[in-house]
Amino acid sequence: MKQIIDFVCQNCGYKSPKWIGKCPDCGSWNSFVEEVSRSHKSNKRDRDILEPLKISEVDLRDIRRIKTSILEFDRVLGGGIVPASMILIGGEPGIGKSTLITQVANIIANQGLKVLYLTAEESLQQVRIRAERLGTLSDNFYIIAENSLENLLRILNKTNPDLLIIDSIQTIFSEDIPSAQGSVSQVRECASKLMDIAKRNNITVFVVGHVTKEGIIAGPRVLEHLVDTVIYFEGDRGLNFRILRSVKNRFGSTNEVGIFEMSESGLKEIRNLSEYLIGDRVSDEPGSATFVAIEGTRPIIVEIQALVTNSNLAMPRRISMGIEGQRLNILVAVLEKKLGLPLYANDIFLNIAGGLKLTETASDLAVCLAIISSYKNLVLPKDMIFLGEVGLLGELRPVSQVNLRLKEAKNLNFKKALLSANQKYNEDFDIMYAKTLEEAVEACFLK
Ligand code: TYD
Ligand code: MG
Repeated sequence: MKQIIDFVCQNCGYKSPKWIGKCPDCGSWNSFVEEVSRSHKSNKRDRDILEPLKISEVDLRDIRRIKTSILEFDRVLGGGIVPASMILIGGEPGIGKSTLITQVANIIANQGLKVLYLTAEESLQQVRIRAERLGTLSDNFYIIAENSLENLLRILNKTNPDLLIIDSIQTIFSEDIPSAQGSVSQVRECASKLMDIAKRNNITVFVVGHVTKEGIIAGPRVLEHLVDTVIYFEGDRGLNFRILRSVKNRFGSTNEVGIFEMSESGLKEIRNLSEYLIGDRVSDEPGSATFVAIEGTRPIIVEIQALVTNSNLAMPRRISMGIEGQRLNILVAVLEKKLGLPLYANDIFLNIAGGLKLTETASDLAVCLAIISSYKNLVLPKDMIFLGEVGLLGELRPVSQVNLRLKEAKNLNFKKALLSANQKYNEDFDIMYAKTLEEAVEACFLK
């Protein structure tokens, strides 16, 4: 068979006949590696030709799904696992992918389905020790340490499992491909062969893929197009809770998140993250403001903490955990210009208690008020929620999904909210409105 040498971007899979320093597709630097691939034979699957349907004839009956009784997990997948689908679980090393998948596998094995766990990374002993810790030693749970794809295919013919777990896709390789283990060609080829087998033999496949902080390392990014569902496990390793997020789902919404806590005996679901996050709040201190964030479709109440101190530095510090540094700089500039606060002489530290990361501008008002509260040493009302985007002119703008946010606040006994004067909100709640940041400050500090 003819061999073709290509240079392949290890980030996105872009191919070039010669080496280049910067990928024209994804923009990453120094990511091209020489790879030998076989001549491109067609890898089309034999499939029946389908007739087009009238849109009204599309079958809406729900697909039968395998439920795991881990509600946070089922929800992220759109209500359970779709049989014969291929699901990629991505995440940084050590985040808990193997733990989650072992727990899920055990539940499925206990339902009478046969599970085969292929470990290409850890030894059989390591996997057993983990399973003992998790109490997951079901009789239908089989395990094998193997990293050759060809051997796996032979094993599959003999074992015929209902669920196959590959941990991880970067550590198995196909002898047919000359490039190194973990390279884009290997990862892609192995995954597409597995996909083929899954569909043909009706096996559900979970594939674990490691991603680094920068999202580089050959693998998951290239696989996203191929598999049916992609879920990512996120969170800092030092942090207690983890977020499972669906980023692609052929059988459900991609707006869902599941929240877990890593405990002594595996991952536990957190049904109410708001309670978990604001449970140990001491908000009669200055520098604390409460906000309701939206993650996927879920409202989460968070405490934004600011600490403003005198600075001896020519360039005062702006340190922000959980909110983008650029956004903090913009808000500080607005506070200086529009409210006349001399913050250039202060260090500002900002933190989201619990370690959540906020990406919405809806938290601007709460961030600004937390800073002012710390600067002036004045406490904000404890039972009040602050929602609003702050513009460069100091104006306060409405936020999306205000009903959802304030319903969550009500459930947790918050009584009041401060919103933009342009915000439409009809429900019963004690609301104050402000047109500008200045009005907002007057409304909440002069009471
Ligand atoms: P692991 O699932 O091996 O992560 P990944 O497969 O994503 O690399 O587990 C990650 C960490 O979780 C590991 O440092 C040990 C810890 N852990 C617990 O705290 N409790 C447990 O019950 C288990 C099994 C692991
Ligand atoms: Mg692992």
